[in-house]
Amino acid sequence: MNYLKEVVILLSGLYLILLCRRVSGDQRQISSKGVINLAHRRSKWTPLMQMSANLSDITSIRSFFEFRTLDPEGAVFYGDTKEGRDWFVLSLRDGIPEMQIGKADILVSVKGGRKLNDGAWHLLELRSEGKFVVLEVNNKVELVVGLHSKLVEDDLTGKIRLALAGMLVDKQKLFHPFEPEIDACIRGGHWLNLSTTWDTDSTWEPQPCFSEIKKGSYFPGTGVAMFNTSDLPGLKTEEAGITVEIFGSWTGTTLSLQSTGFEYVLGELDGNKDVKEVQLGLKEESESVALPGEPATLTFTVLKHSLVVNSVSELETESLDFFSMWKKGMLLTFGGVPGDSEKAKSTHYLRGCLEKILVQGQVIDLDRALYKHTALSSHSCPTEAMNELTKSSYKAFILAG
Ligand SMILES: *[C@@H]1O[C@H](CO)[C@@H](O)[C@H](O)[C@H]1NC(C)=O
Ligand SMILES: *[C@@H]1O[C@H](CO)[C@@H](O)[C@H](O)[C@H]1NC(C)=O
Ligand SMILES: *[C@@H]1O[C@H](CO)[C@@H](O)[C@H](O)[C@H]1NC(C)=O
Repeated sequence: MNYLKEVVILLSGLYLILLCRRVSGDQRQISSKGVINLAHRRSKWTPLMQMSANLSDITSIRSFFEFRTLDPEGAVFYGDTKEGRDWFVLSLRDGIPEMQIGKADILVSVKGGRKLNDGAWHLLELRSEGKFVVLEVNNKVELVVGLHSKLVEDDLTGKIRLALAGMLVDKQKLFHPFEPEIDACIRGGHWLNLSTTWDTDSTWEPQPCFSEIKKGSYFPGTGVAMFNTSDLPGLKTEEAGITVEIFGSWTGTTLSLQSTGFEYVLGELDGNKDVKEVQLGLKEESESVALPGEPATLTFTVLKHSLVVNSVSELETESLDFFSMWKKGMLLTFGGVPGDSEKAKSTHYLRGCLEKILVQGQVIDLDRALYKHTALSSHSCPTEAMNELTKSSYKAFILAG
C-alpha cells in the first residue's frame, strides 16, 4: 500500500517535470495539483510561483492543500487584491501558523493553533467568510481572524493574485517580520476552485520531495552554506572559547573558515569515508544520493590562538587572535570551501545529513545563512528508507518511460 502511494507520488512528480517542459517565454506553467517543493529558491522574498484570476470568475474563496515541513519558520501562502493594496500572508513561526493581513489602514497579525512542523502531511484550508478569514488544519478550525474597516468598500472587480512561499508586496509592509525561506512540500492543492496553473520563473528547476524525511540539513554534495561569524553567538569565557558542534552522518569537507590572509579547512571525518552511492532515477540527469554513514559528533573549538577538533589541537598560531577575528567577522562555511579557488576545487563538498549544528549551544538555522546553495535542504533529510525510495522510483521511471 505504502509502496503504491509512493509510486503515485513519484509519478505525479514525473508528471510535474513533464508539465514543466512546456516552457512559454520566460515563464513555466506548473500543475496546481501536483507535488511542489517550496525549498531550493534563489531569492528570499520572491514567491516560487504565482497565479492570478479575475475576481469576477471566482466562485469560491476557499483554498486547500496538503503541507509537510520540519521547518519552524517561513512563508507558505500569499494572496492579494487591488495590486497588493489588500493582502494576506500565511506563514509559520515556531512551527505555528501565523496570518498577517493588510487592508486599507489596518494591519493584523494573528498566530495560533497547533505546531505544523512535525514532518507529517497536514491538510490546510483557508477560506474567507464575509469579514472573517478562517484557517482549518486537518478539518478542524484552528484560527479565525475578523477584520472590519469603514474605509473598505467591498470591490469585486479587478484581479486576485495568489503566490506560494513568498510575497508580492514589500516585506516592509509586514506587521511582524519573519524569515521567508521554507523547506516544505505541498501537494493536492485546490486554489479558489481555479483550474489555472502556477506560473514560475523558467530558471526554476522543480525538485522532488523525499518520500520520508527526518530532522536535519541535507547536503547533496553540490554546495555550501555560509555564515558571517559576527552574526553568530560570540565568546562567553576565554577558557571555554567558541564551540561549534555538529551531529549527523556525512562525508566530505565539514567546514572552513576564511578571513583576509587566512583559510582553514576541516576535511573528511575519519571512519566516515565509506560512502555508498545510489542513483535516484527521478530526474533526467540522475542524482546521486549519499547514504548516511555512521552517525558522528564533531566538536570544533575556537580558542584565542588555536583551533581544536574533538579535543585534538589542529592548528596553533600565536600570530592570530581568533577571538577578535570571530567578532570582526570571518566566513564560516559548512559543507565546503566557498568560491572557485584551487582549494575549493580540490576539496569535496559535504554529502549527508547534518542533524544539528550548534554554535555556543545555540541551534543554527541554515535559512539564516548569508548564502545557501539552492540544492541544500535546510530542515529535512531523506530517511534511511532512501534505498526503498530509489527502488520504487526506478520502477516508476520505467512505468512512465
Ligand atoms: C480578465 O478580464 C480581462 C478584461 O475584463 C480579460 O481581458 C482577461 O482575459 C481576463 N483574464 C482571465 C484570466 O480570465
Ligand atoms: C468549483 O468548480 C466546479 C467546476 O468549475 C463547479 O462545478 C463547482 O460548483 C465549483 N465549486 C464551488 C464551491 O464554487
Ligand atoms: C561580517 O560582518 C561584519 C560586521 O557586520 C562586516 O564588517 C564584515 O565585512 C562581514 N564579513 C563578511 C565576509 O561578510
